[in-house]
Amino acid sequence: MEHDMVGLEPKLKKDLHPEEMLRIIFDFAAKIANERNLDNVLMLMADMGRDMIVSDRCTVWLLDKNKNELWSKVAHGMNEIRMPSTAGLVGHAVTSGKAVFIDDAYENEEYKQFLINGALKVDKQTGYRTKALMVIPFRNNEGEIMGAYQAINKMTESGQFSSKDMEYLTLASSYAGKSLESALLTNEIEETQKEIIFTMGEIGESRSKETGNHVKRVAEFSYFLALGLGMSQEEADLLKMASPMHDIGKVAIPDEVLKKPGKLTEEEFDVMKSHTNIGYNLLKNSTRHILKTAAIVAYQHHEKWNGKGYPCGIKGEEIHIYGRITAIADVFDALGSERVYKKAWELDRILNLFKEERGHHFDPRVVDVFFEQLPNIVKVRDAYSDFNLAEKTENSH
Ligand code: C2E
Ligand code: SIN
Ligand code: SIN
Ligand code: SIN
Ligand code: FE
Ligand code: FE
Repeated sequence: MEHDMVGLEPKLKKDLHPEEMLRIIFDFAAKIANERNLDNVLMLMADMGRDMIVSDRCTVWLLDKNKNELWSKVAHGMNEIRMPSTAGLVGHAVTSGKAVFIDDAYENEEYKQFLINGALKVDKQTGYRTKALMVIPFRNNEGEIMGAYQAINKMTESGQFSSKDMEYLTLASSYAGKSLESALLTNEIEETQKEIIFTMGEIGESRSKETGNHVKRVAEFSYFLALGLGMSQEEADLLKMASPMHDIGKVAIPDEVLKKPGKLTEEEFDVMKSHTNIGYNLLKNSTRHILKTAAIVAYQHHEKWNGKGYPCGIKGEEIHIYGRITAIADVFDALGSERVYKKAWELDRILNLFKEERGHHFDPRVVDVFFEQLPNIVKVRDAYSDFNLAEKTENSH
Protein backbone atom coordinates (compact mmCIF):
# COMPACT_ATOMS: atom_id res chain seq x y z
CA MET A 1 0.00 0.00 0.00
CA GLU A 2 1.26 3.50 -0.76
CA HIS A 3 2.46 5.77 2.00
CA ASP A 4 0.39 8.85 1.40
CA MET A 5 0.70 11.40 4.14
CA VAL A 6 -2.62 13.09 4.38
CA GLY A 7 -2.38 16.31 6.30
CA LEU A 8 1.24 17.18 5.54
CA GLU A 9 0.40 18.68 2.22
CA PRO A 10 -3.29 19.44 2.31
CA LYS A 11 -4.76 19.72 -1.16
CA LEU A 12 -8.20 20.75 -0.14
CA LYS A 13 -11.14 20.08 -2.37
CA LYS A 14 -14.69 21.31 -2.31
CA ASP A 15 -17.92 19.42 -1.83
CA LEU A 16 -19.66 18.83 -5.14
CA HIS A 17 -22.15 21.12 -6.78
CA PRO A 18 -25.48 19.46 -7.49
CA GLU A 19 -24.68 19.21 -11.23
CA GLU A 20 -21.37 17.51 -10.51
CA MET A 21 -23.11 15.13 -8.16
CA LEU A 22 -25.70 14.25 -10.77
CA ARG A 23 -23.02 13.67 -13.38
CA ILE A 24 -21.14 11.27 -11.08
CA ILE A 25 -24.27 9.37 -10.13
CA PHE A 26 -25.29 9.17 -13.75
CA ASP A 27 -21.88 8.00 -14.99
CA PHE A 28 -21.39 5.37 -12.33
CA ALA A 29 -24.97 4.13 -12.35
CA ALA A 30 -24.64 3.46 -16.08
CA LYS A 31 -21.37 1.59 -15.63
CA ILE A 32 -22.60 -0.41 -12.67
CA ALA A 33 -25.82 -1.39 -14.40
CA ASN A 34 -23.81 -2.93 -17.24
CA GLU A 35 -21.42 -4.80 -15.00
CA ARG A 36 -22.05 -8.41 -14.12
CA ASN A 37 -18.73 -9.15 -12.49
CA LEU A 38 -19.06 -8.89 -8.73
CA ASP A 39 -15.54 -7.61 -8.07
CA ASN A 40 -16.01 -4.86 -10.62
CA VAL A 41 -19.37 -3.85 -9.15
CA LEU A 42 -17.74 -3.54 -5.74
CA MET A 43 -14.90 -1.40 -7.05
CA LEU A 44 -17.23 0.84 -9.05
CA MET A 45 -19.42 1.32 -5.98
CA ALA A 46 -16.37 2.26 -3.93
CA ASP A 47 -15.20 4.77 -6.52
CA MET A 48 -18.68 6.24 -6.84
CA GLY A 49 -18.94 6.69 -3.07
CA ARG A 50 -15.48 8.22 -2.88
CA ASP A 51 -16.22 10.74 -5.62
CA MET A 52 -19.66 11.66 -4.25
CA ILE A 53 -18.48 12.55 -0.79
CA VAL A 54 -14.94 13.71 -1.67
CA SER A 55 -13.20 11.23 0.58
CA ASP A 56 -9.64 10.03 0.10
CA ARG A 57 -10.58 6.37 0.29
CA CYS A 58 -13.71 4.37 0.11
CA THR A 59 -14.23 0.64 0.42
CA VAL A 60 -17.35 -1.46 0.03
CA TRP A 61 -17.49 -4.42 2.39
CA LEU A 62 -19.86 -7.34 1.91
CA LEU A 63 -21.09 -9.70 4.55
CA ASP A 64 -20.46 -13.37 3.85
CA LYS A 65 -23.04 -15.00 6.10
CA ASN A 66 -21.81 -18.54 5.48
CA LYS A 67 -18.35 -17.79 6.72
CA ASN A 68 -19.21 -14.99 9.14
CA GLU A 69 -16.77 -12.76 7.39
CA LEU A 70 -16.64 -9.36 5.79
CA TRP A 71 -14.84 -9.20 2.49
CA SER A 72 -13.89 -6.66 -0.08
CA LYS A 73 -11.91 -6.10 -3.21
CA VAL A 74 -10.00 -2.83 -3.42
CA ALA A 75 -7.95 -3.07 -6.58
CA HIS A 76 -7.70 -4.96 -9.84
CA GLY A 77 -5.36 -7.91 -9.69
CA MET A 78 -5.36 -7.94 -5.91
CA ASN A 79 -6.84 -10.76 -3.92
CA GLU A 80 -9.96 -10.06 -1.97
CA ILE A 81 -9.49 -9.06 1.65
CA ARG A 82 -11.39 -10.76 4.44
CA MET A 83 -11.92 -10.27 8.14
CA PRO A 84 -14.20 -11.73 10.82
CA SER A 85 -17.65 -10.14 10.57
CA THR A 86 -17.36 -8.73 14.07
CA ALA A 87 -13.94 -7.16 13.58
CA GLY A 88 -13.23 -3.46 13.65
CA LEU A 89 -15.58 -0.61 13.08
CA VAL A 90 -17.05 -2.13 9.98
CA GLY A 91 -17.92 -5.22 11.97
CA HIS A 92 -19.47 -3.07 14.65
CA ALA A 93 -21.55 -1.17 12.11
CA VAL A 94 -22.92 -4.25 10.34
CA THR A 95 -23.60 -6.01 13.63
CA SER A 96 -25.37 -3.06 15.23
CA GLY A 97 -26.91 -1.75 12.00
CA LYS A 98 -25.84 1.77 12.98
CA ALA A 99 -23.70 4.25 11.08
CA VAL A 100 -20.45 5.34 12.71
CA PHE A 101 -18.86 8.79 12.39
CA ILE A 102 -15.43 9.63 13.71
CA ASP A 103 -13.79 13.04 13.35
CA ASP A 104 -10.31 11.96 14.36
CA ALA A 105 -9.49 8.30 14.76
CA TYR A 106 -6.50 9.15 17.00
CA GLU A 107 -8.57 11.17 19.49
CA ASN A 108 -11.73 9.12 19.55
CA GLU A 109 -12.56 7.41 22.85
CA GLU A 110 -15.98 5.91 22.08
CA TYR A 111 -14.71 3.47 19.43
CA LYS A 112 -11.16 3.18 20.68
CA GLN A 113 -11.27 -0.61 21.04
CA PHE A 114 -12.33 -1.05 17.40
CA LEU A 115 -9.89 1.53 16.10
CA ILE A 116 -6.88 0.02 17.82
CA ASN A 117 -7.45 -3.29 16.07
CA GLY A 118 -8.66 -1.71 12.86
CA ALA A 119 -7.72 1.57 11.27
CA LEU A 120 -4.88 2.42 13.67
CA LYS A 121 -3.26 -0.94 13.16
CA VAL A 122 -3.54 -0.61 9.40
CA ASP A 123 -2.02 2.89 9.61
CA LYS A 124 0.92 1.58 11.54
CA GLN A 125 1.62 -0.93 8.79
CA THR A 126 1.14 1.48 5.91
CA GLY A 127 2.16 4.92 7.18
CA TYR A 128 -1.25 6.27 6.25
CA ARG A 129 -2.91 8.74 8.63
CA THR A 130 -6.58 8.03 9.20
CA LYS A 131 -8.40 11.02 10.56
CA ALA A 132 -12.06 11.20 9.67
CA LEU A 133 -13.85 7.88 9.30
CA MET A 134 -17.39 6.96 8.40
CA VAL A 135 -19.04 3.56 8.12
CA ILE A 136 -22.55 3.21 6.70
CA PRO A 137 -24.22 -0.22 6.70
CA PHE A 138 -26.52 -0.94 3.77
CA ARG A 139 -29.38 -3.38 3.30
CA ASN A 140 -30.91 -5.49 0.55
CA ASN A 141 -34.53 -5.37 -0.58
CA GLU A 142 -35.55 -7.65 2.26
CA GLY A 143 -34.07 -5.22 4.77
CA GLU A 144 -31.18 -7.48 5.76
CA ILE A 145 -27.79 -5.92 6.15
CA MET A 146 -25.65 -6.81 3.15
CA GLY A 147 -22.50 -4.92 3.98
CA ALA A 148 -21.13 -1.45 4.56
CA TYR A 149 -19.52 1.53 2.98
CA GLN A 150 -16.34 2.63 4.73
CA ALA A 151 -14.96 6.08 3.91
CA ILE A 152 -11.69 7.46 5.18
CA ASN A 153 -10.53 11.09 5.30
CA LYS A 154 -12.70 13.88 4.06
CA MET A 155 -10.74 15.99 1.59
CA THR A 156 -12.58 19.27 2.06
CA GLU A 157 -11.74 22.08 4.44
CA SER A 158 -14.03 20.85 7.21
CA GLY A 159 -12.13 17.54 7.25
CA GLN A 160 -15.22 15.83 8.66
CA PHE A 161 -17.96 13.72 7.25
CA SER A 162 -21.44 15.11 7.60
CA SER A 163 -24.92 13.63 7.70
CA LYS A 164 -25.21 14.78 4.07
CA ASP A 165 -22.33 12.47 3.21
CA MET A 166 -24.16 9.67 4.94
CA GLU A 167 -27.23 10.35 2.83
CA TYR A 168 -25.13 10.30 -0.30
CA LEU A 169 -23.53 6.96 0.50
CA THR A 170 -26.91 5.53 1.40
CA LEU A 171 -28.13 6.78 -1.95
CA ALA A 172 -25.11 5.28 -3.71
CA SER A 173 -25.73 1.92 -2.09
CA SER A 174 -29.39 1.94 -3.05
CA TYR A 175 -28.53 2.80 -6.67
CA ALA A 176 -25.96 0.05 -6.76
CA GLY A 177 -27.87 -2.42 -4.60
CA LYS A 178 -29.82 -4.03 -7.44
CA SER A 179 -26.71 -4.60 -9.53
CA LEU A 180 -24.89 -5.81 -6.49
CA GLU A 181 -27.59 -8.32 -5.69
CA SER A 182 -27.72 -9.62 -9.22
CA ALA A 183 -23.93 -9.81 -9.37
CA LEU A 184 -23.97 -11.71 -6.09
CA LEU A 185 -26.53 -14.08 -7.52
CA THR A 186 -24.50 -14.59 -10.68
CA ASN A 187 -21.50 -15.22 -8.49
CA GLU A 188 -23.39 -17.78 -6.47
CA ILE A 189 -24.63 -19.52 -9.59
CA GLU A 190 -21.12 -19.62 -10.97
CA GLU A 191 -19.75 -20.97 -7.71
CA THR A 192 -22.39 -23.69 -7.81
CA GLN A 193 -21.59 -24.45 -11.42
CA LYS A 194 -17.90 -24.69 -10.61
CA GLU A 195 -18.62 -27.17 -7.86
CA ILE A 196 -20.83 -29.26 -10.09
CA ILE A 197 -18.25 -29.21 -12.85
CA PHE A 198 -15.45 -30.28 -10.57
CA THR A 199 -17.59 -33.03 -9.16
CA MET A 200 -18.47 -34.28 -12.60
CA GLY A 201 -14.86 -34.07 -13.68
CA GLU A 202 -13.92 -36.10 -10.64
CA ILE A 203 -16.42 -38.80 -11.55
CA GLY A 204 -14.72 -39.23 -14.90
CA GLU A 205 -11.42 -39.31 -13.11
CA SER A 206 -12.16 -41.67 -10.28
CA ARG A 207 -13.60 -44.18 -12.74
CA SER A 208 -10.36 -44.17 -14.67
CA LYS A 209 -8.24 -44.11 -11.50
CA GLU A 210 -6.43 -41.06 -12.69
CA THR A 211 -4.85 -39.52 -9.68
CA GLY A 212 -6.43 -36.85 -7.46
CA ASN A 213 -5.68 -33.47 -8.89
CA HIS A 214 -5.58 -34.13 -12.62
CA VAL A 215 -8.67 -32.08 -13.50
CA LYS A 216 -7.61 -29.23 -11.29
CA ARG A 217 -4.15 -29.05 -12.83
CA VAL A 218 -5.51 -29.21 -16.37
CA ALA A 219 -7.81 -26.32 -15.43
CA GLU A 220 -4.92 -24.21 -14.11
CA PHE A 221 -2.62 -24.99 -17.07
CA SER A 222 -5.39 -24.07 -19.49
CA TYR A 223 -5.92 -20.82 -17.64
CA PHE A 224 -2.28 -19.77 -17.96
CA LEU A 225 -2.16 -20.77 -21.61
CA ALA A 226 -5.32 -18.73 -22.31
CA LEU A 227 -3.93 -15.64 -20.59
CA GLY A 228 -0.56 -16.11 -22.30
CA LEU A 229 -2.34 -16.21 -25.65
CA GLY A 230 -3.83 -12.82 -24.89
CA MET A 231 -7.36 -13.88 -24.05
CA SER A 232 -9.35 -11.74 -21.65
CA GLN A 233 -9.53 -12.51 -17.95
CA GLU A 234 -13.18 -13.52 -18.41
CA GLU A 235 -12.40 -15.98 -21.17
CA ALA A 236 -9.45 -17.45 -19.26
CA ASP A 237 -11.72 -17.88 -16.23
CA LEU A 238 -14.33 -19.52 -18.41
CA LEU A 239 -11.86 -22.03 -19.81
CA LYS A 240 -10.55 -22.71 -16.34
CA MET A 241 -14.06 -23.59 -15.20
CA ALA A 242 -14.87 -25.69 -18.25
CA SER A 243 -11.66 -27.65 -18.87
CA PRO A 244 -12.02 -29.99 -15.86
CA MET A 245 -14.75 -31.74 -17.82
CA HIS A 246 -12.60 -32.72 -20.79
CA ASP A 247 -12.66 -36.44 -19.91
CA ILE A 248 -16.21 -36.61 -18.56
CA GLY A 249 -17.07 -39.09 -21.33
CA LYS A 250 -14.83 -41.66 -19.65
CA VAL A 251 -17.74 -42.34 -17.28
CA ALA A 252 -19.21 -44.48 -20.06
CA ILE A 253 -16.10 -46.47 -20.93
CA PRO A 254 -16.16 -50.06 -19.59
CA ASP A 255 -13.70 -50.96 -16.87
CA GLU A 256 -11.93 -53.63 -18.94
CA VAL A 257 -10.76 -50.89 -21.25
CA LEU A 258 -10.45 -47.97 -18.90
CA LYS A 259 -8.52 -49.81 -16.23
CA LYS A 260 -6.50 -52.15 -18.41
CA PRO A 261 -2.98 -52.16 -17.01
CA GLY A 262 -1.25 -52.69 -20.36
CA LYS A 263 -1.45 -51.43 -23.88
CA LEU A 264 -4.86 -51.24 -25.56
CA THR A 265 -5.67 -53.24 -28.68
CA GLU A 266 -6.90 -51.33 -31.69
CA GLU A 267 -10.52 -52.24 -30.90
CA GLU A 268 -10.12 -51.20 -27.30
CA PHE A 269 -8.60 -47.90 -28.31
CA ASP A 270 -11.56 -47.28 -30.60
CA VAL A 271 -13.84 -47.74 -27.61
CA MET A 272 -11.61 -45.41 -25.61
CA LYS A 273 -11.75 -42.74 -28.31
CA SER A 274 -15.52 -42.53 -27.96
CA HIS A 275 -15.06 -40.66 -24.66
CA THR A 276 -14.81 -37.49 -26.73
CA ASN A 277 -18.15 -37.93 -28.50
CA ILE A 278 -19.81 -39.17 -25.34
CA GLY A 279 -18.66 -36.10 -23.40
CA TYR A 280 -19.77 -33.82 -26.20
CA ASN A 281 -23.23 -35.39 -26.38
CA LEU A 282 -23.61 -35.13 -22.64
CA LEU A 283 -22.86 -31.41 -22.61
CA LYS A 284 -23.75 -29.95 -25.97
CA ASN A 285 -27.41 -29.22 -25.34
CA SER A 286 -26.84 -27.04 -22.34
CA THR A 287 -27.45 -23.35 -22.81
CA ARG A 288 -25.03 -22.48 -20.00
CA HIS A 289 -21.95 -20.74 -21.19
CA ILE A 290 -19.61 -22.85 -19.09
CA LEU A 291 -21.13 -26.14 -20.21
CA LYS A 292 -21.07 -25.09 -23.86
CA THR A 293 -17.37 -24.38 -23.45
CA ALA A 294 -16.94 -27.72 -21.70
CA ALA A 295 -18.66 -29.44 -24.63
CA ILE A 296 -16.09 -28.02 -27.07
CA VAL A 297 -13.25 -29.08 -24.81
CA ALA A 298 -14.61 -32.61 -24.32
CA TYR A 299 -15.11 -32.96 -28.07
CA GLN A 300 -11.82 -31.57 -29.35
CA HIS A 301 -9.09 -32.15 -26.76
CA HIS A 302 -7.72 -35.13 -28.73
CA GLU A 303 -7.71 -33.44 -32.13
CA LYS A 304 -4.24 -32.75 -33.47
CA TRP A 305 -2.86 -29.71 -35.31
CA ASN A 306 -1.77 -31.99 -38.19
CA GLY A 307 -5.22 -33.52 -38.57
CA LYS A 308 -4.25 -36.95 -37.22
CA GLY A 309 -6.28 -36.75 -34.04
CA TYR A 310 -9.81 -37.84 -33.20
CA PRO A 311 -12.81 -37.94 -33.25
CA CYS A 312 -13.09 -35.76 -36.36
CA GLY A 313 -9.54 -35.53 -37.65
CA ILE A 314 -9.88 -31.78 -38.21
CA LYS A 315 -6.68 -29.77 -38.38
CA GLY A 316 -5.07 -26.39 -37.67
CA GLU A 317 -7.45 -23.60 -36.82
CA GLU A 318 -10.42 -25.79 -37.67
CA ILE A 319 -9.86 -26.98 -34.12
CA HIS A 320 -11.32 -24.54 -31.63
CA ILE A 321 -8.67 -22.68 -29.67
CA TYR A 322 -10.13 -24.18 -26.46
CA GLY A 323 -9.44 -27.63 -27.91
CA ARG A 324 -5.88 -26.69 -28.89
CA ILE A 325 -5.20 -25.32 -25.42
CA THR A 326 -6.61 -28.24 -23.46
CA ALA A 327 -4.81 -30.71 -25.73
CA ILE A 328 -1.50 -29.38 -24.45
CA ALA A 329 -2.68 -29.03 -20.86
CA ASP A 330 -4.03 -32.59 -20.84
CA VAL A 331 -1.02 -34.28 -22.43
CA PHE A 332 1.39 -32.33 -20.24
CA ASP A 333 -0.43 -33.61 -17.19
CA ALA A 334 -0.97 -37.16 -18.49
CA LEU A 335 2.74 -37.56 -19.23
CA GLY A 336 3.79 -36.18 -15.86
CA SER A 337 1.43 -38.52 -14.03
CA GLU A 338 1.41 -42.20 -13.40
CA ARG A 339 -1.35 -44.12 -15.17
CA VAL A 340 -2.40 -47.76 -14.96
CA TYR A 341 -0.69 -48.18 -18.31
CA LYS A 342 2.41 -46.00 -17.90
CA LYS A 343 4.90 -44.47 -15.50
CA ALA A 344 5.25 -40.74 -14.99
CA TRP A 345 7.74 -38.99 -17.24
CA GLU A 346 10.48 -36.62 -16.12
CA LEU A 347 9.94 -32.97 -17.00
CA ASP A 348 12.81 -32.81 -19.53
CA ARG A 349 11.46 -35.72 -21.46
CA ILE A 350 8.04 -34.07 -21.65
CA LEU A 351 9.52 -30.78 -22.81
CA ASN A 352 11.43 -32.58 -25.56
CA LEU A 353 8.25 -34.22 -26.76
CA PHE A 354 6.54 -30.82 -26.84
CA LYS A 355 9.36 -29.39 -28.96
CA GLU A 356 9.09 -32.36 -31.35
CA GLU A 357 5.31 -32.16 -31.55
CA ARG A 358 5.25 -28.38 -32.10
CA GLY A 359 3.35 -27.97 -35.35
CA HIS A 360 2.48 -31.69 -35.47
CA HIS A 361 0.32 -32.76 -32.53
CA PHE A 362 0.16 -29.23 -31.11
CA ASP A 363 -0.56 -25.71 -32.31
CA PRO A 364 2.91 -24.09 -32.54
CA ARG A 365 1.65 -20.84 -31.07
CA VAL A 366 0.24 -22.59 -28.01
CA VAL A 367 3.50 -24.53 -27.56
CA ASP A 368 5.42 -21.23 -27.58
CA VAL A 369 3.09 -19.80 -24.94
CA PHE A 370 3.46 -23.02 -22.99
CA PHE A 371 7.23 -22.48 -22.78
CA GLU A 372 6.75 -18.81 -21.84
CA GLN A 373 4.34 -19.86 -19.11
CA LEU A 374 6.45 -22.76 -17.90
CA PRO A 375 7.37 -21.15 -14.55
CA ASN A 376 3.67 -20.69 -13.73
CA ILE A 377 2.84 -24.14 -15.02
CA VAL A 378 5.51 -25.84 -12.96
CA LYS A 379 4.35 -23.91 -9.92
CA VAL A 380 0.80 -25.20 -10.37
CA ARG A 381 2.05 -28.71 -10.96
CA ASP A 382 3.98 -28.64 -7.69
CA ALA A 383 1.16 -26.99 -5.76
CA TYR A 384 -1.38 -29.61 -6.86
CA SER A 385 1.00 -32.51 -7.07
CA ASP A 386 -0.25 -36.01 -6.36
CA PHE A 387 1.23 -37.92 -3.52
CA ASN A 388 3.03 -40.40 -5.72
CA LEU A 389 4.23 -37.66 -8.02
CA ALA A 390 5.99 -35.51 -5.46
CA GLU A 391 9.24 -37.43 -5.62
CA LYS A 392 9.44 -37.41 -9.39
CA THR A 393 8.84 -33.68 -9.57
CA GLU A 394 11.77 -33.11 -7.20
CA ASN A 395 14.05 -35.25 -9.34
CA SER A 396 13.21 -33.56 -12.56
CA HIS A 397 14.59 -30.16 -11.56
P1 C2E B 1 -4.79 -40.05 -20.63
O1 C2E B 1 -4.07 -41.11 -19.89
O2 C2E B 1 -5.34 -38.91 -19.85
O3 C2E B 1 -3.81 -39.48 -21.73
C1 C2E B 1 -4.11 -38.33 -22.42
C2 C2E B 1 -3.21 -38.14 -23.60
O4 C2E B 1 -1.85 -37.95 -23.15
C3 C2E B 1 -3.13 -39.32 -24.54
O5 C2E B 1 -4.21 -39.30 -25.44
C4 C2E B 1 -1.80 -39.05 -25.24
O6 C2E B 1 -1.94 -38.02 -26.21
C5 C2E B 1 -0.95 -38.49 -24.12
N1 C2E B 1 -0.19 -39.59 -23.50
C6 C2E B 1 -0.45 -40.27 -22.38
N2 C2E B 1 0.51 -41.20 -22.14
C7 C2E B 1 1.39 -41.12 -23.15
C8 C2E B 1 2.64 -41.80 -23.47
O7 C2E B 1 3.09 -42.70 -22.76
N3 C2E B 1 3.29 -41.40 -24.60
C9 C2E B 1 2.82 -40.42 -25.41
N4 C2E B 1 3.52 -40.09 -26.50
N5 C2E B 1 1.65 -39.76 -25.15
C10 C2E B 1 0.96 -40.10 -24.02
P2 C2E B 1 -4.65 -40.66 -26.16
O8 C2E B 1 -3.47 -41.44 -26.61
O9 C2E B 1 -5.65 -40.31 -27.18
O10 C2E B 1 -5.34 -41.49 -25.01
C11 C2E B 1 -6.58 -41.12 -24.49
C12 C2E B 1 -6.88 -41.91 -23.27
O11 C2E B 1 -6.93 -43.30 -23.61
C13 C2E B 1 -5.81 -41.81 -22.19
O12 C2E B 1 -6.01 -40.66 -21.41
C14 C2E B 1 -6.05 -43.12 -21.44
O13 C2E B 1 -7.15 -42.99 -20.56
C15 C2E B 1 -6.41 -44.08 -22.54
N6 C2E B 1 -5.24 -44.83 -23.02
C16 C2E B 1 -4.39 -44.50 -24.03
N7 C2E B 1 -3.46 -45.46 -24.21
C17 C2E B 1 -3.68 -46.43 -23.28
C18 C2E B 1 -3.06 -47.70 -22.96
O14 C2E B 1 -2.07 -48.11 -23.59
N8 C2E B 1 -3.60 -48.40 -21.96
C19 C2E B 1 -4.68 -47.96 -21.26
N9 C2E B 1 -5.15 -48.72 -20.26
N10 C2E B 1 -5.30 -46.78 -21.53
C20 C2E B 1 -4.82 -46.03 -22.54
C1 SIN C 1 -10.55 3.42 -3.49
O1 SIN C 1 -10.47 4.58 -3.12
O2 SIN C 1 -10.88 3.13 -4.65
C2 SIN C 1 -10.26 2.32 -2.52
C3 SIN C 1 -8.78 2.17 -2.35
C4 SIN C 1 -8.33 2.14 -0.92
O3 SIN C 1 -9.10 1.95 0.01
O4 SIN C 1 -7.12 2.29 -0.72
C1 SIN D 1 -9.77 -1.75 7.69
O1 SIN D 1 -9.44 -0.57 7.51
O2 SIN D 1 -9.28 -2.67 7.03
C2 SIN D 1 -10.76 -2.09 8.77
C3 SIN D 1 -10.84 -0.96 9.68
C4 SIN D 1 -11.91 -1.03 10.67
O3 SIN D 1 -12.88 -1.79 10.53
O4 SIN D 1 -11.80 -0.30 11.64
C1 SIN E 1 -11.84 -30.15 -5.92
O1 SIN E 1 -12.98 -30.59 -6.11
O2 SIN E 1 -11.63 -29.14 -5.25
C2 SIN E 1 -10.64 -30.85 -6.49
C3 SIN E 1 -10.90 -31.51 -7.79
C4 SIN E 1 -9.79 -32.49 -8.06
O3 SIN E 1 -8.72 -32.31 -7.51
O4 SIN E 1 -9.98 -33.45 -8.78
FE1 FE F 1 -9.24 -37.46 -23.03
FE1 FE G 1 -7.32 -36.02 -19.32
